[in-house]
Amino acid sequence: MTSDFDNTALKKAFGSFATGVAVATSHSSGFTINSFSSLSLSPPLIIFNIYKTETDHIDFLKNKTFAINFLSREQEDVSRLFATKDPEKVNKTQHSISKNKNIILNDTLGHIELSVFQQIDIADHILVIGQVQNFKTDDNKKPLIYYRSDYKSLKDV
Ligand SMILES: Cc1cc2nc3c(=O)[nH]c(=O)nc-3n(C[C@H](O)[C@H](O)[C@H](O)COP(=O)(O)O)c2cc1C
Repeated sequence: MTSDFDNTALKKAFGSFATGVAVATSHSSGFTINSFSSLSLSPPLIIFNIYKTETDHIDFLKNKTFAINFLSREQEDVSRLFATKDPEKVNKTQHSISKNKNIILNDTLGHIELSVFQQIDIADHILVIGQVQNFKTDDNKKPLIYYRSDYKSLKDV
């Protein structure tokens, strides 16, 4: 299905909604996302999307477990690196491996580990609904913000 909208203008309209920035990781790699949203507390669910023509979603979701790493304002370089296809991006970033074998990035605002609750195929995206298995937050870190295709930081938190 095609639309009559100017894609540049539409991208700007979508990008007018400021978001945080995260890196979705699983057993072998990861990629920068800003489509994260909390979905429900009971059961504890989140949602994000994978652009399937860009990312090897089959490998990413292979173990049915993954992590969302919330980036701090000092981690713009991490966001830029994980938005590339550099095969060494994980090795270039300080991280640990969880009991569930997910890559967990160091020095973030926090992370959540999840199991795949549901995945929904829509056009060129997969919506992934994850159920929280465990999480950790660092109250001393500030968030990295993404707004109209650029990185920002918040003054008031
Ligand atoms: C700020 C930002 C947000 C992004 N959000 C998403 C997203 O929500 N979903 C997605 O599939 N790709 C998103 N991307 C693009 C992916 O990061 C990029 O396609 C991916 O890193 C490609 O690498 P891979 O093939 O190793 O997965 C985003 C990129 C940036 C810079």
